[in-house]
Amino acid sequence: MANSDLRIAIDCDETAIDLKKVLCDHLKKRGVHITDLDYLGQEKADYPEIGFHLAQEIQKRHYDRGILICGTGLGMAMIANKVEGVFAGTCHDVYSAERLKKSNDAQVLTMGARVIGPELAKMVVDAWLHSEFQGGGSLPKVDKMRELEHASFHRKA
Ligand code: RB5
Repeated sequence: MANSDLRIAIDCDETAIDLKKVLCDHLKKRGVHITDLDYLGQEKADYPEIGFHLAQEIQKRHYDRGILICGTGLGMAMIANKVEGVFAGTCHDVYSAERLKKSNDAQVLTMGARVIGPELAKMVVDAWLHSEFQGGGSLPKVDKMRELEHASFHRKA
């Protein structure tokens, strides 16, 4: 899928409103279809509800990929990974952002607005969006993660 065809969702908690705006403006300028879910604009919430909501949108295939920003990126990744079928990782450097998609096939990138500045955050997002899952030797590993995830979510007591 060409990157301009990807449907991208973005959201953040109260720590990352400025960075979210910077990234939305940046991606719109590049012709990316970005939707700000703006959970905080609708109700009072913390990163668990905000991240869970975006990850569910990915699970329902309403969007192809999502970007979640909080103070560190960590809480957002933890909660997004609680939604079955969604893989999320925190990246603050370009190499990890590339590998997050190429090796790990993650649909959700998380970042920390208290960790990364706006210029590097734009580069990290661009690197991740321009990367595709490479398959090959990474495929059986990602398949194993999906199998283990399925077993964990559907474990019989
Ligand atoms: C603030 O609630 C802070 O804990 C949050 O933004 C995030 O860093 C959590 O992982």
